[in-house]
Amino acid sequence: MSNVEMMQVIIGLCFLLLCLFSLSQQCGCPAQFTQQIFCNSQLVVKARIESSTSDQSYTFYEISVIKFYDGEDEYKRLSNKTTLWTPKESAACGPVVFETGSKYILTVSVYDGIMSHNLCGLQVKFLHASKTLLAGLSGEYKKNCQCKIPYKFKKTNGRKSQNQCGKPPIKCSRETVCATDAIGQCSWQNC
Ligand SMILES: *[C@@H]1O[C@H](CO)[C@@H](O)[C@H](O)[C@H]1NC(C)=O
Repeated sequence: MSNVEMMQVIIGLCFLLLCLFSLSQQCGCPAQFTQQIFCNSQLVVKARIESSTSDQSYTFYEISVIKFYDGEDEYKRLSNKTTLWTPKESAACGPVVFETGSKYILTVSVYDGIMSHNLCGLQVKFLHASKTLLAGLSGEYKKNCQCKIPYKFKKTNGRKSQNQCGKPPIKCSRETVCATDAIGQCSWQNC
């Protein structure tokens, strides 16, 4: 190998390492289906964005909750019921950009009495919510949280258990409900 070729190999390796490093700095969301996100959330609401402020690391949205899809009791226990913390950094799965005055469907994480949200959560402008999503939110997701959906990064060993949905048919959306069917097996509904 000539010196020039050697240099090229070294540069190539450095580039690869740089790529791997920057990948590890990126946001990776394990759940890709809305039902998973819903079932993993303590609080799911429809809320209006009233205003926002920010510091170096967070944008704080002042929100007013209009409707609860899940977690009303959790909400009642919050010490701060109006401020939603969202990260600015992409490595922390931000930035979350909301339009002031608009209504959104949001999943919220509760930690130490405060509400937080990042891009791994659900954020849908209410005006753009699909029928499938609204049906899911109005009870179908919650009713079927016992039906498991494989995480994006999880290797499946081909075996599918009774209480687990497999890979969805191509025409299913990420909002499709995974529910128990007539023979007691979890399966994707209506798609
Ligand atoms: C909620 O938290 C925000 C940001 O820390 C603060 O500005 C606001 O005053 C708090 N509100 C209440 C009711 O505690």
